[in-house]
Amino acid sequence: MRTQVAIIGAGPAGLLLGQLLHKHGIDNVILERQTGDYVLSRVRAGVIEQVTQDLLDEAGVGTRMHRDGLVHEGVQICVDGVRHRLSFKELVGKSVMVYGQTELTKDLMDGRAAAGAPTVYSAQDVALHDVLTARPRVSYRAEGKAHELACDFIAGCDGFHGVSRKSVPASAITANERVYPLGWLGILTDTPPVSDELIYVRHPLGFALCSMRSPTRSRYYLQCSLAEDIESWPDERFWEELKPRLDDEARARLVTGPSIEKSIAPLRSFVAEPMRFGALFLAGDAAHIVPPTGAKGLNLAASDVQYLARALVEHYAEKSDAGLDTYSERALKRVWKAERFSWWMTMLLHRISENSFDRNIQLAELDYLFRSQAAATAFAENYVGLPY
Ligand code: FAD
Ligand code: DHB
Repeated sequence: MRTQVAIIGAGPAGLLLGQLLHKHGIDNVILERQTGDYVLSRVRAGVIEQVTQDLLDEAGVGTRMHRDGLVHEGVQICVDGVRHRLSFKELVGKSVMVYGQTELTKDLMDGRAAAGAPTVYSAQDVALHDVLTARPRVSYRAEGKAHELACDFIAGCDGFHGVSRKSVPASAITANERVYPLGWLGILTDTPPVSDELIYVRHPLGFALCSMRSPTRSRYYLQCSLAEDIESWPDERFWEELKPRLDDEARARLVTGPSIEKSIAPLRSFVAEPMRFGALFLAGDAAHIVPPTGAKGLNLAASDVQYLARALVEHYAEKSDAGLDTYSERALKRVWKAERFSWWMTMLLHRISENSFDRNIQLAELDYLFRSQAAATAFAENYVGLPY
């Protein structure tokens, strides 16, 4: 089999890239290790930046998001039981969309099916070959048979644990990493949200987040230890640990109910540099991870894809490699700013240190954020997403 661009991974990065390339008549095949149903069952991101929304519209998959998504013009931060609101609309004239990654992935999958573009699900033993030559190949097994896909370029969109980044010799890649001694325990419930807006909670007992998927479906997170066993978190325990971290009004409005999903995600900051090796281009979680606090992971995957899709279109339509040659540098500039913001928000809101100096710095920084228009504007500018 032959294609122009072989895409590894059918997460948001791979599917969005495939859709944008297809729009410009560039052939692509996606190889995904899991089944489509499994990919759709992973409950993850919920906040979509304005620039990501624009890109989804450009890919022709934004209709349902605009119909069912919730436009949020601000966010709330609760510090030790007192809630504060930061208005994106007033500070930077923008908003974000609350729309689940599962729904977005479904829209992208439906768009791909409508375009008739090929995706091989349950592709096993995906391996990259000859990436430093002009004739790269990808081998894999599907339905018990060995296959080979010849291509011009490979897009490594296979997430943090994927094969693409690991195919690059260790000496050619710099891994910048920071691991936090924390995880997020998340639950999804068919209960109305405690508030119309997200509430990020800083509390001596630990961080919490009240988010949502719709007016009848809530998503809550609690800071937990990395050693936590999900079996030791029956729903009742989750609610009992959440309640004392909330302010009185949120606590009074909290409707508890059975969880329909529960999972633990570790917190990590990671950036691999560069993001290109010959014919292989890394995009999304394959190249970098942010702790979820700033809601940036999915949005960064989209911004990488934006740079990469434009560069590939330039290569095929204008016979110019300028975009491909600067892809890594341009993508990384935005990645590092989102890494900084995600690290900062994580350190600001979690119980990480037992040192009273660190605790007081956190509180001083939060007080500054609520009192200074300049600090609030910088926060809003980053949260809604920096321009491409
Ligand atoms: P992935 O979604 O990981 O997709 C990679 C795909 O590659 C997967 O389908 C995988 O099965 C496949 N794959 C892996 N290995 C192979 C292989 N060897 N061969 C073939 N296929 C392979 N981000 C936000 O922007 N906003 C948020 O609010 C937010 N909240 C989050 C909350 C949680 C709890 C978590 C865990 C994450 C959150 N994120 C958020 C991050 C976001 O979910 C990820 O950054 C996003 O999924 C990255 O997309 P991706 O396509 O790069 O990678
Ligand atoms: C959600 C996840 C995040 O990481 C975040 O910062 C905000 C919302 C969510 O899943 O709804």
